[in-house]
Amino acid sequence: MSGIATIEIDGKKYEFPVTVGTENEVAIDINTLRSATQGVTTLDPGYKNTGSCESAITFLDGEKGILRYRGYAIEELAEKADFLEVAYLLIFGELPTREQLQKFHNDIRDQSIVAEDMKKILDGFPQSAHPMGVLSSLTSALIAFNPSSVNVDSEEDMYKAIVKILGKFPVLTAWTYRKRAGLPLDYGDDTMGYVENFLKMMFKKPQGEYKRNEIVTNSMDKLLILHADHEQNCSTSTVRMVGSSHAGLFASLSAGINALWGPLHGGANQAVIEMLEAIKADGGDTKKYMAKAKDKDDPFRLMGFGHRVYKNFDPRAKIIKKAADEVLSDLGVSDEVLDIAKGLEKEALEDSYFVDRKLYPNVDFYSGIIYRALGIPIEMFTPMFALGRLPGWIAQWREMRLRKEPIGRPRQIYIGETLRAFKDIDYR
Ligand code: SDX
Repeated sequence: MSGIATIEIDGKKYEFPVTVGTENEVAIDINTLRSATQGVTTLDPGYKNTGSCESAITFLDGEKGILRYRGYAIEELAEKADFLEVAYLLIFGELPTREQLQKFHNDIRDQSIVAEDMKKILDGFPQSAHPMGVLSSLTSALIAFNPSSVNVDSEEDMYKAIVKILGKFPVLTAWTYRKRAGLPLDYGDDTMGYVENFLKMMFKKPQGEYKRNEIVTNSMDKLLILHADHEQNCSTSTVRMVGSSHAGLFASLSAGINALWGPLHGGANQAVIEMLEAIKADGGDTKKYMAKAKDKDDPFRLMGFGHRVYKNFDPRAKIIKKAADEVLSDLGVSDEVLDIAKGLEKEALEDSYFVDRKLYPNVDFYSGIIYRALGIPIEMFTPMFALGRLPGWIAQWREMRLRKEPIGRPRQIYIGETLRAFKDIDYR
């Protein structure tokens, strides 16, 4: 691949450098395009062909179904690491030593108390409020109780803000669930691991001891690892965009939570189960829903299918599908919608509409089946995605700030009215 790209506009040729990444991804560096051409820009709705940054955190290969965090294959990390180790790896770039991991966890534990007045904000929400809206609000509200987490120009302040949110977010997530369930808000147990402690905060009954369940803990840990980062997806790009204005970490994360909420993004895991339940209620008629998904006049989409980058298979979906069978059998749980999901996948992979458009199950297609088996209610599925994605958002925000990236401000092509004179109201 030559180092130069030539663009010809109105017979005039312009040359731009070509940049090549460590995995041989190639991009035309158009940093000087507008100045060199007196105003020409590019147009790419949805940024399907546009890189927003150079990053050393996560590598995806959509054609080969590859996903690596800091060079480590997702399959290995899901099998051999735990979520806090992966969080450390994503944020700081290396797998931690035992001492580094212990210190990281201790620092997070020290910051896992949430100001009691935050409960008053939580109480202000109706019980029917969607947890993603509550969580994005509480994450923003944390700024008021932790003002030093805003000016994070120093690495030390950044580290403090990072362990604060990693300590407090699981508490806020558990409290959001318990508020909806009408349960008292409580803390976990500092003697437990990060994920087990979260599950205890979620499910501890007021009148009894929390019963540890290794299968549930290990399954949740693996799901959180699989959701931990995914390069420049919609919510991560949002976190970077907000952080690029030098808004603080918590404000940037709150924006990312709102972006993840959308049913085309993280909200799909909830939408998948709602879709599978609708198919079940409809007598399991998958063919009817396949037809709806292919009908251009019908807004219905096969939720959990398709991906902007993966045009072969989503490696996370493969791991989660296998885990779904294992978890349900280990827990002695059967779930009719798992069979419906497998049936849908089989039909879609044999249907030219899906094959031609390279639409395969993504991370959201099977994850809800496991969440449900673990006792997570459907409205908490996307908050689980947010809990998993938190270290990835943090890592990407930290990289953007340390690389002193410029404020994000895309251009546009104006297609509105040209200049016209004002008309008084009586002449309109
Ligand atoms: C996540 O980016 C990430 O990395 C995201 C994520 C992460 O970890 O952060 O992986 C998490 O968000 C996974 C995706 C979850 N969303 C869903 O499952 C919702 C259903 N899927 C889609 O809406 C869609 O596939 C997207 C949003 C995921 C991707 O959309 P694109 O890349 O913009 O593709 P597109 O909408 O342009 O679709 C291309 C064609 C179109 O048909 P034609 O116009 O060419 O005839 O495929 C069709 C679409 O209509 N299509 C679907 C479909 N997805 C795409 N048709 C039916 N069902 C679907 N699910």
